[in-house]
Amino acid sequence: MNWESIDALAKQWVKEAGEKIRSSFDKTLNIQTKTNPNDLVTNIDKEIEQFFISKIRGVYPNHKIMGEEGFGDEFTSHEGIVWLIDPIDGTMNFIHQQRNFAISLGVYENGIGKIGLVYDVVHDELYHAIRGRGAYMNGMPLPQLNETTVKEAIIALNATWVMENKRIDHNLMIPLARDARGTRSYGTAALEMVFVATGRIDAYISLRLAPWDVSGGSVIVEELGGVVTNLRGRKLDYLGQDSLLVAKPGLHQTILRDYLKEGKW
Ligand code: IPD
Ligand code: CA
Ligand code: CA
Ligand code: CA
Repeated sequence: MNWESIDALAKQWVKEAGEKIRSSFDKTLNIQTKTNPNDLVTNIDKEIEQFFISKIRGVYPNHKIMGEEGFGDEFTSHEGIVWLIDPIDGTMNFIHQQRNFAISLGVYENGIGKIGLVYDVVHDELYHAIRGRGAYMNGMPLPQLNETTVKEAIIALNATWVMENKRIDHNLMIPLARDARGTRSYGTAALEMVFVATGRIDAYISLRLAPWDVSGGSVIVEELGGVVTNLRGRKLDYLGQDSLLVAKPGLHQTILRDYLKEGKW
């Protein structure tokens, strides 16, 4: 498979999609809700997903597509080449703030991430990686990540962890938030993952994400030595929803062992 040529096309399409999103800023959005009143989608999310699907199908009719807004294929396995698309990650920010959102694309072969792209549309920052060939921001190579400690770490997490939930004893998170140098919440999983890749933050934790939220960012952060698992320390399967812990090397192990009580739940 010629991953370079797929990557080159994907980058071109992501840039074009970014331009479409920027030019929507002075138009009225059509906003709808999905599973609950805070689960938002706009006409732009849908248009951008359809834009990618028509580009991909035009060049790679045999590739499969998993998209958040449902214009892609049905999935029971990750056999073959699969594009995972989040047309706008951080839709709530897109609507309310016109910033702090991204386009996220992952290209996987038999469940293994080969290409990851995350585009911060407003800052015109394109992060990308091809497995085994380094990770880049706007074409500049990103350095490998160094180990760090909890007391020097900025950790991104969102407020759902303070609420009781089915996935994890939320009390486990309190010592982590207390011991960390600081916590942040950006409201866009894809950017929070690439912020770990650039060292802007040191770890990101989420209780529940979908494959399209994490597929692009995983390839980028793993390429730099960052570690991506669920909160039990297991590999993500990219078919259904899962929790997420992404962190610098060393820090990932410490959070799992000392705070998330790996293996005890
Ligand atoms: C959401 C964002 C958010 C995360 C949610 C995701 P969307 O994606 O990544 O940060 O907390 O779980 O669903 O819906 O804006 O693409
Ligand atoms: Ca959404
Ligand atoms: Ca998302
Ligand atoms: Ca989305």
